Amino acid sequence: MNFAPPGKLAVLFPGMGAVATTAIAGVMLARRGLGAPIGSFAEYGVVDDVSGGGSPATKTRDLVPLASLDQLVFGGWDIFEDDALAAARHADVLTEKHLDLIAPELAAVRPMKAVFYPEYVKRLHGTWVKEGATKADMVEQLRQDIRTFIKEQGADRAVAVWTGSTETYIEPTAVHATIKSFEKGLLTNDPAISAAQLYAWACLKERVPYANGSPNLGVEFPAAQELAHDLGVAIAGKDFKTGQTLMKTVIAPGFRARNLGVRGWYSTNILGNRDGEVLDDPESFKSKEVSKLGVLDSIFEPENAPDLYGNMAHKVRIDYYPPRGDQKEGWDNIDFFGWLGYNMQMKIDLLCRDSILAAPIVLDLALFLDLAQRSGQMGTQEWLSFYFKSPMHDGAGRPVHDLFAQLDRMKATLRTLSRVRALASAAE
Ligand SMILES: NC(=O)c1ccc[n+]([C@@H]2O[C@H](COP(=O)([O-])OP(=O)(O)OC[C@H]3O[C@@H](n4cnc5c(N)ncnc54)[C@H](O)[C@@H]3O)[C@@H](O)[C@H]2O)c1
Repeated sequence: MNFAPPGKLAVLFPGMGAVATTAIAGVMLARRGLGAPIGSFAEYGVVDDVSGGGSPATKTRDLVPLASLDQLVFGGWDIFEDDALAAARHADVLTEKHLDLIAPELAAVRPMKAVFYPEYVKRLHGTWVKEGATKADMVEQLRQDIRTFIKEQGADRAVAVWTGSTETYIEPTAVHATIKSFEKGLLTNDPAISAAQLYAWACLKERVPYANGSPNLGVEFPAAQELAHDLGVAIAGKDFKTGQTLMKTVIAPGFRARNLGVRGWYSTNILGNRDGEVLDDPESFKSKEVSKLGVLDSIFEPENAPDLYGNMAHKVRIDYYPPRGDQKEGWDNIDFFGWLGYNMQMKIDLLCRDSILAAPIVLDLALFLDLAQRSGQMGTQEWLSFYFKSPMHDGAGRPVHDLFAQLDRMKATLRTLSRVRALASAAE
């Protein structure tokens, strides 16, 4: 039983590079039966009853009303004018064998002009960019883009996933504290407001649910969280959990479960796509580094087991290495210890494809954020932590990083949403 909601869902991407075009092309292929959307929980997941309440295991789409792939329409913005076909060719993730099958449909997805401040992405020189006297003016232009796109496509509603480049590292400042201070900063062109934040703000104002797939400060600041609450908009972030960090949050819970100590975890990566080029700038890398370093502490909880994890060295490196393109290689060396403190090692060599791992996350986030929004879930969607390296959370304490704990949380929420829906339809 599938019970998709009526109407088209517009999926908007600020940043139409490797990840966005791989996701868009994949959906276009899947809905024609020319490819399989492998890795998507919406498409392949099964929700068993994590509460132990005895409900039968159910396929995700049979449990909650998700938009069907046929109902999705795609749009977005980029600092380069390339349509999605040209951008996919440039990204060199999918082969011509796949791109040829959907070439006209993909070429019809053309980016709208971007908002871009080069000081935030130093390695790129955008040419397809908006002009505006103030950042407030830029937000208005983006809002107009959203309204026009929805109207032209005959869509009912929209969601947005930031798949733009990683911006330089910044911490929230006073301007990010409240709606009032942020709106004042928009009018005065506060330099601490980046392009990513303008897209998020425009989407929130248009009540478009928003996910941040990159590690930069996008929607995870108090003013945006306040706005999301006030306007009843679902948000999620940040930084897609794909290759090395995904594996880290699979393996680390195993060490913790068996009470094996860890002295050090050294992680290094080589990648050669445009994302790698952007991350070659130390200030953009800093955003990624902070995001990647956060995961182990919440899994090992060194304060509860200082003898096992209290002195752990954790190091993360990324090197831009053009020959590898999107086919990243990540090495991990884990120095761990067991009974009586005897040392052991584990080496991992992960040869993955960055955008192939990110595309199903994009699809799931679009479908689940839309579900959350239609179900009246506003503000930070902690249950979507499963998809992020640095999960947003509103409450006190640490975010959960353990992939299996995150999965349980997501399943429990999907079950709750299905019950809310059942109650709502029973009351009709
Ligand atoms: N597995 C993964 O691929 C993965 C995992 C985690 C996070 N991410 C993040 O996802 C994002 C996208 O990754 P990618 O591999 O597609 O990178 P990419 O470089 O191929 O695409 C990013 C696109 O954003 C555009 N862009 C930059 N600034 C913009 C702006 N202000 N407005 C509109 N467009 C803008 C660029 O021109 C580019 O086309 C990056 O931030 C990356 O760190 C990717």
